[in-house]
Amino acid sequence: MPLRDENGRDGGIRINPSILAADFVNMQSELARIAAADFVHVDVMDNHFVPNLTFGPQMVERIQATSPVPLDVHLMIADPDRWAPGYAELGAASVTFHLEAATEPVALARRLRDIGARAGVAVKPATPVEGLFDLLDDFDQILVMTVEPGFGGQSFMPETMPKLRRLADEARRRGSSVWLQVDGGIGESTIAQAAEAGADTFVAGSAVFGASDPGTAIAGLRASAAQHRHTH
Ligand code: DX5
Ligand code: ZN
Repeated sequence: MPLRDENGRDGGIRINPSILAADFVNMQSELARIAAADFVHVDVMDNHFVPNLTFGPQMVERIQATSPVPLDVHLMIADPDRWAPGYAELGAASVTFHLEAATEPVALARRLRDIGARAGVAVKPATPVEGLFDLLDDFDQILVMTVEPGFGGQSFMPETMPKLRRLADEARRRGSSVWLQVDGGIGESTIAQAAEAGADTFVAGSAVFGASDPGTAIAGLRASAAQHRHTH
């Protein structure tokens, strides 16, 4: 059962390895290496919203059929209003689209939930979070990007932490149970500051798939996050 603090916030920690750092031609064995994770983070890029291209629904459907853990889909695509529901329909546990790309974010979140997925919204490093304060009940998770989206292996941007802290404070103030996710440059040396700032859900690509034993890497990240988790 998820832990709840006195404000109803989920006290759990989630570690979601990003398969952007996996070997794409050996996806089945790569997925088997992260059975200790909470979700597998699946980065969909369209070479339009971001200057990089990964894969679309056909590949995500195969990942869904093969993965030992549920899918956390991160859509870095234009026109999510049109494309995001399809990822929920193929069974992704959560579908996160970018606020900067969506036309009607609240209506889209509602559609995702109706299909049965957790609804997520992501913001790039320069996008303020204040516009989300009145929408906290409309989403199940909010992703604060800690790098510019598009590529794995970039350096964590500590300047995004005040924004995360403001969001976490507001969520606490409102008694929201929304999950707060960080993505980009998360590893042993950066996860503590993100946890302290209020994140509870951590995406890590290179730090997990680049490790000789991903299971040990996941356990290490989980322990560091739990130790530094912001609880007051
Ligand atoms: C970046 C992606 C991230 C990326 C993280 O645009 O959204 O999920 O895979 O990779 P690392 O952990 O290597 O920074
Ligand atoms: Zn991502």
